[in-house]
Formats: sequence, structure tokens, C-alpha cells
Amino acid sequence: MNENRIPVGILGATGMVGQHFVKFLQNHPWFEIAWMGASDRSAGRLYREATVWRLEGEMPCGVEDFEVRECKPVNAPRLMFSAMDASVATDIEREFAKAAHVVVSNSRNHRMEPDVPLVIPEVNPDHLKIIPHQQRLRGWEGQIATNPNCSTIVLAMALAPLKPFGITRVIATTMQAISGAGYPGVASMDINANVIPFIGGEEEKMQQETQKILGDFTGEGLRPLSAKVSAHCNRVPVLDGHTVTVSVEFERKPSKQDIVSALVNYRSTPQDRKLPSAPPQPVIYMEESDRPQPRRDVERERGMAVFVGRLRECPVLDYKFVALGHNTIRGAAGAAVLNAELMYSEGLLD
Ligand SMILES: NC(=O)c1ccc[n+]([C@@H]2O[C@H](COP(=O)([O-])OP(=O)(O)OC[C@H]3O[C@@H](n4cnc5c(N)ncnc54)[C@H](OP(=O)(O)O)[C@@H]3O)[C@@H](O)[C@H]2O)c1
Repeated sequence: MNENRIPVGILGATGMVGQHFVKFLQNHPWFEIAWMGASDRSAGRLYREATVWRLEGEMPCGVEDFEVRECKPVNAPRLMFSAMDASVATDIEREFAKAAHVVVSNSRNHRMEPDVPLVIPEVNPDHLKIIPHQQRLRGWEGQIATNPNCSTIVLAMALAPLKPFGITRVIATTMQAISGAGYPGVASMDINANVIPFIGGEEEKMQQETQKILGDFTGEGLRPLSAKVSAHCNRVPVLDGHTVTVSVEFERKPSKQDIVSALVNYRSTPQDRKLPSAPPQPVIYMEESDRPQPRRDVERERGMAVFVGRLRECPVLDYKFVALGHNTIRGAAGAAVLNAELMYSEGLLD
């Protein structure tokens, strides 16, 4: 262990998102993996024995010989990232928060609870102010903070710069990568040369999470954005990268140039504070008529930026555009690590 770095643990370290955490945290300037947990099928085994490494490249050295632990708050670091299966995350994350751990979760389980912040550091860093209420209400010394669903984050980051124009209605249609379904995901016989127009629970998540994220902290609670949001979610044969086509209506219709300026000039707290995983430019506007594209653009900026293009007038709402983001990086592990960096910069890990 490097004494200057903060020890962190990963709950669900053997799974797909857990592996992304391991990869993303490699050589992190502030955080160092010190603990890994998974189910009792894996507990007691070495990480390299318990894990089938499914990401590109080798398993990072330094983690292979970690002993995988049971997901119990015993000798675990204070800061815990969670990538556990949703069927078990509710109780285990609560148990850790009760035992004074800071749980930065990627699972859906607690996202919509009124006293749990659902954070994108660029968009709603002030929602972390709900944490003292959470601790008081639940009698916890620890806390739970969450990041959004992998398609919500793409939509919310593209809409956030446009919030000052007064968003009233949004229609978003996704083309979601197969990696978003975890491993092995959708059967190849179903997804090859095909589109599956249903992802269970996804449309409701996108609608509600977007309203919560773009809402306001009132001093006592989180007031969701009153805009109506309608999502259509589809699984497509793309490996990584969720594409979302968006139509949006505003209270005061801006000019096209106003929208481009808002997107291009969008910077926020992570950029001001130079958080290690923050992309210098969180939203990248592309002028080309056929971009962004997942295969060409999604890996740029370490997978942490959202790409927007094809901005044009919409005959039904006011404008329409395309947005793209990396679902397992900006939509999962990278999102949670950036949340923890924000929390550290706010003194919440002291
Ligand atoms: N895949 C994505 O792109 C994506 C994106 C955003 C959010 N998410 C969310 O992230 C979470 C993980 O997804 P994933 O795709 O990584 O799933 P996964 O590959 O199935 O991994 C699940 C992890 O949970 C662990 N686990 C299972 N049962 C457990 C138990 N009883 N106690 C403790 N740990 C247990 C597994 O350990 P074993 O190896 O020992 O079974 C494994 O480490 C889910 O909540 C998912 O909804 C996924």
C-alpha cells in the first residue's frame, strides 16, 4: 500500500462492472484497491482464481493475489465501491453504511430513495448535501451515494447544459450496447443482426432518474425537474457505447447557436477542481453530419465524455440531437470513481 493513497474496497469485484472498477482504479493518483468482495462462491479464493477476466488486456498486476472476501463490513476500508448484483445490493450496501462505510454504488437499488443522492459530478454536485439528512434519518455514521443508470447518464449530461433554457419535454430513444447487459448478456442468436425493442425496467429508470438528477436541492430534500421525459429503450448489436437520440422542448426556445455555445462551454465542479477522472470537456459537440458513432468516438477521453452531434430543429418539439457515452465507463465504474473524487474534494471522506 502507498501510504499517501486512500485504501478502497470493491463489493462485487469479480463481476463485469467490478472488473471495470479494477481496471479504472489502476494507477489512480488518490485511491488504491485494498479489499475485494464477492459472493460466497468466490470468498476465500484468490482474485485470479475467482474471476474470469473479460476485459481487454491482462488482469492488472497487483490484484491477482488478493483474497476475495465475503461482502461483510469486517476489516474493510472506509470507502467502498459497489458493483454487486442488484438482487443482493440493497441489504449489503445498507449494512456497510450502517457500519460507518462510505458506499459509492453503481447498483440501481438505492438510486430513487429520497435521501440518497443520485449524482453526476458535473450536473448536480450539490445533491451530496442530502447526505447529512440521510445519516440523521437512518442513524448511520456511513452513507450511500449512487450514480445513474448507463443510458440515463448520457441523456442527463447532454441535457444539463441546456437546463437554463427551461426544459419542458424530452423524448429520448436509445440504441444500447450489449455490454450494458453484463456478461454473457443477450444470447448471440437474439442480438446478431437484430434490434431488441425492450430492456426490462430501463425506460422507467431513464425517465425518473433524469428528473431526479436535473432537479434541485431545496435545503431539505431533492425536488425533481418538472419536465416530462419519455424514453424508448432498445438493445442493438454494438459492443460498447449507448447512443441516444433526443428531442427536447424549452420554455424559451433558444437559437441553435445558443445551444451549441451552451454545450461547448459547459464546464463544472469536476473541471474546476481538476478531479483526476474528470474529462477536460464533459460534453463534446461534433459538427460532422454523421457523428458521434460508438465505434469511432466512445473510447475517446478515457470513455468519460459525452458526445453530442446532429443538432437540428425538431418539427414536433424544439430541437433534436444525438448523444453518445461509454456505458461501462462513464455509465458505471468511471461514474462511481468520479463521484468518490467529488466526495473526497468535499471533505465527505474525512
Ligand atoms: N453491466 C453494465 O454495464 C452495468 C452498468 C451499470 C450498472 N450495472 C449494475 O452493476 C451491478 C453489477 O453488474 P455486472 O454486470 O457487473 O454483474 P455481474 O457480472 O453478474 O457481477 C455481479 C457481482 O455481484 C457479486 N455477487 C453476486 N451475488 C452476491 C452475493 N450474494 N453477495 C455478494 N456479492 C454477490 C458477484 O460475485 P460472484 O462472482 O462471486 O458471483 C459479482 O462480483 C448490477 O447491479 C448492475 O445492474 C451494470
